Amino acid sequence: MKAELINKSASGIETYTIENDNGMRAEFITFGARIFKLFVKDKNDNLVDVVAGFDTPDGFREENPYFNAVIGRVGNRIGGAKFTLDGKEYNLYKNDGNNHLHGGKVGFDSRMWTAQILGDDSVKMSRLSQDGEEGYPGNLQVSVTYTLTPDNALELKYEAVCDQDTICSLTNHAYFNLDGTFETVLDHEVFIGADKVTVVDDELIPHGELKDVKGTAFDFTTAKKIGKDIKADEHMIEIARGYDFNYVLRGEGVRKVATAYSQNSGIEMSVYTDRKCMQLYTGNFLGGLKGKKTYGYQSAFCMETQGYPNACNVPEFDSMTLEKDTKYTAYTKYAFDIK
Ligand code: BGC
Repeated sequence: MKAELINKSASGIETYTIENDNGMRAEFITFGARIFKLFVKDKNDNLVDVVAGFDTPDGFREENPYFNAVIGRVGNRIGGAKFTLDGKEYNLYKNDGNNHLHGGKVGFDSRMWTAQILGDDSVKMSRLSQDGEEGYPGNLQVSVTYTLTPDNALELKYEAVCDQDTICSLTNHAYFNLDGTFETVLDHEVFIGADKVTVVDDELIPHGELKDVKGTAFDFTTAKKIGKDIKADEHMIEIARGYDFNYVLRGEGVRKVATAYSQNSGIEMSVYTDRKCMQLYTGNFLGGLKGKKTYGYQSAFCMETQGYPNACNVPEFDSMTLEKDTKYTAYTKYAFDIK
């Protein structure tokens, strides 16, 4: 294994690669600390790039739905684009109607990060999110370390620390299609170890209510095709145009929380995390954007590990407050096997 810098674009975006002894290879770019390419072997031993994106690093500067980026300072939606912390109200940038989505106008996905190679199999990306950036309080020093393991897993370790109380909830917005074709994910089989989803209003904001998934279209406790119930007569699914929901995961600590499998490629992806929740998003807002492939409606899915969304406005949810000088850590692993 060897992690190395392989390119620097005219606009200054660096590309790093890590390859393991099985031929699995990942590439990362410093713009948005994004996963640029992720080559996994399929059942015929062919390498398949399972993440969406553009042909060149500079492509990601074009308008796109957060392709494979680190999302912060807070992932998901913050209702009304505001929150109160230590008695003070903070107003955030409204980039989703009246709400704040995925860090605002220029979130972590569209900022330059500084990369550092750590050993043979890791690349660490860091940046300073300044006090007031997108409306958030405090200078937040943040990093994500990507590691490619010998057993074909990509690990993401997030760390952050702030010089004031703030709110923080990081994720990665990787868009997967385990065939690498990005035609459809409706035939991918998904399992999610979660008995509840957070109920959302018509602007996709959760307010504290949880819904039991058992026996409903939201239920992935037994693996089923994404497409099986995606047209169910459920108001939330209609509003979201598919799955775009936060699952409250069983268990705690680092555990396996979800799998996705495509029979065509034979690739199975398992998601491990120490987070409480995960958003299943089935690419319902994709509409034909051209990149490495053409990304149509429901041609990719995301499994965004996270804390409870909008927790800064919902006292019943576990807090997303990060206290001054306290270390935030989060862990997620996407592991690949052939089945
Ligand atoms: C959200 C979607 C949103 C998408 C942005 C997902 O994480 O849940 O509602 O549209 O990101 O492309």
